Amino acid sequence: MLNWDDPIENIKQTNVSGTHMNSRQAGPGEVNPRDGIHKRTEETTAGQATTMPPQAADLEAEPALESEKRLLGGSDLTANIAPIKYRWAWDAYMMSQRNFWMPTEIGMGEDLMSLRELNDNERHTFFTTFATLTTADALHQRNLALAVYERITAPEVGMAVIAQMHQETIHSMSYQHIIESLNFDEDEIYLLYKKVPQIRAKFEYSNAMTRGLQGNNGNLQEYMRGLFFYYMIFEGVWFMANFCPIFSMQRRRLMSRTGEQLQYIARDESGHVAFGRSLIWALWQEVPEARIEESEAHRLMHEAMELEEAYAEYTIKPILGYDIELHRRHVRYLVNRRLLDMGFNPIYSEDEAESLPWWEEQIGFRKEKNFFETRVTEYQTGGALSWE
Ligand SMILES: [Fe+2]
Ligand SMILES: [Fe+2]
Repeated sequence: MLNWDDPIENIKQTNVSGTHMNSRQAGPGEVNPRDGIHKRTEETTAGQATTMPPQAADLEAEPALESEKRLLGGSDLTANIAPIKYRWAWDAYMMSQRNFWMPTEIGMGEDLMSLRELNDNERHTFFTTFATLTTADALHQRNLALAVYERITAPEVGMAVIAQMHQETIHSMSYQHIIESLNFDEDEIYLLYKKVPQIRAKFEYSNAMTRGLQGNNGNLQEYMRGLFFYYMIFEGVWFMANFCPIFSMQRRRLMSRTGEQLQYIARDESGHVAFGRSLIWALWQEVPEARIEESEAHRLMHEAMELEEAYAEYTIKPILGYDIELHRRHVRYLVNRRLLDMGFNPIYSEDEAESLPWWEEQIGFRKEKNFFETRVTEYQTGGALSWE
């Protein structure tokens, strides 16, 4: 019997004695996924026998060979997590478990005081940005459940998507915790997108992309466009950029606790973008016709940027240390970075695009951050964090 704690490397050991009637013989340089099972059997009986007879369970079930697993359109052996074929997905799943956090552990009292100190521009920027993030996370959970997960047939990749869905619910919990702690008008926050065309336009565009994602037999190119949009643009550009106005306030000790909540969310989102990048790359390798052309990626980025420009003009009023020009340059930097991540040329020159000077520090906080004081490690439950 395999143990979930077994390192995957152990499962992929080279062939050992003991063959099996259902086993496919591994070719040169190939690892037979069943070898691990035999190896375990051999280890537990060390000193008793070197060649083990087949076990009853082995005789009944056809193994889920790695080669039978597919990201899309694979067999229905979706319970066979091991042998793991898509290691990056398993790693993403494990990282999301290690990074578990509870928004309610962050006390919001300090922000109640801070809220009174905001001037009109800060107040407008804070509320509109916060409301957009709130709606975006709720929308994303639905997309992942109804669209992305539905079509994935490799179980370890499905687990990573489910773990992402769970993290998105924690983000919604975080926003709700902020709303309740600071006595915000819930309707005003959750329904702002209905009143503001510039915010609504982004969600309408997102919804159109979701339709492309849905359905098991939907158009493959549309599905890929949807994946690219959701991971590289929605999360990789829009989300990442929209944290920034509130981060800039946090750096001035305004709305610090909300800023801390958003730092945790941003850490999760970094993982989501990294997972999405791996998923898309793996799909391109496995299904070459799924590849998106550079011209298409550029077109999508330009469309997203147009929506972002209009949105930013409405939401971002000049405040100390932040304005629309800084925001615009940072968004262009994110656009370029996402394109480079996917092997495409950037669309903005170095003169046009620039990361905010504190960006990396802001999303890469670790133990040095004076956060929770001694509690930080409690939220890294299984080992070291890794960062995009
Ligand atoms: Fe999220
Ligand atoms: Fe996310």
